[in-house]
Amino acid sequence: MIVVTGATGKLGGLVVEDLLGRVPASEVAVVARALGKAAGYFDRGVDVRQGDYEDPGSLRIAFEGADVLLFVSSPDTTPGTRPRQHKNVVDAAVDAGVGRIVYTSAINAQNAPGFLADHTVTEKLLTASGVPHTFLRNTFYQETVLNPGLKAVVDAGVLRAADGGRPVNFASIADLALGASATLTGDGHAGAVYELRGPLWTFADLADVLTSVSGRPVSYEAGEGEQGSAFLHDLVASGFFAEPSGDLEKLIGRPPAGLRAGVEKALGA
Ligand SMILES: NC(=O)c1ccc[n+]([C@@H]2O[C@H](COP(=O)([O-])OP(=O)(O)OC[C@H]3O[C@@H](n4cnc5c(N)ncnc54)[C@H](OP(=O)(O)O)[C@@H]3O)[C@@H](O)[C@H]2O)c1
Repeated sequence: MIVVTGATGKLGGLVVEDLLGRVPASEVAVVARALGKAAGYFDRGVDVRQGDYEDPGSLRIAFEGADVLLFVSSPDTTPGTRPRQHKNVVDAAVDAGVGRIVYTSAINAQNAPGFLADHTVTEKLLTASGVPHTFLRNTFYQETVLNPGLKAVVDAGVLRAADGGRPVNFASIADLALGASATLTGDGHAGAVYELRGPLWTFADLADVLTSVSGRPVSYEAGEGEQGSAFLHDLVASGFFAEPSGDLEKLIGRPPAGLRAGVEKALGA
């Protein structure tokens, strides 16, 4: 049995869709804190279980019979919340006898800044748990930057970014979900740490692709920009996203979607 948390969210939802194309629905269970939100899965023959990261007892029951558990990290980045919630998840998985835990970690989790340090804490909890595990060190979703907000950038004709000219290895959320799904169904992933990243590009490249896809001139300028937060741009400028990795391509069996595909989707081209 594959048990998936976060299935009512973006990443987990895409993972379940892919899983249902690989294994019978009877071998998949989803965990939702509000059962009503997961009713569509029930209609498709998927076991729907109630579980809240704040409620250890609910998790212990929800993880029953899990050969493998997809543990989607909590979206609540309030300081102290994820370490508490994630300890609940890991403890419940130990109690329930989960066979393997696949955790959606983050890029550079071995030594991460800010709210990303919650992943450092969680990787340590998982390592100490003794349960076989797989770390998916997901880079940032490219949709954080490649989204319909780019239409305003095209209208303005200028893309500003305080990126220091450093490249990013963002990946599409769909490809990261396929990578996760591959590690839930395949063999040989216990103990693996996957650095899941897409092809490198710079914000100057983005301006060029915006020009090419829209047919309207967009120039790149160094400076504070609207596409992505100041935190994100600081990370980019520090080289946080500058290293490539082939792990995602290996897991999904093709090159991850790159800049042009992301821009075409964002602009609806
Ligand atoms: N790599 C990146 O760029 C990036 C970007 C954003 C987030 N993330 C991280 O990756 C995770 C998955 O991303 P996503 O885009 O799928 O996020 P999302 O759409 O916000 O989904 C989060 C999921 O977590 C569930 N959840 C929240 N609090 C919970 C709780 N107390 N107990 C049980 N489940 C709970 C949500 O359930 P409900 O439907 O009930 O709310 C939802 O299913 C995020 O949670 C965050 O940790 C990564």
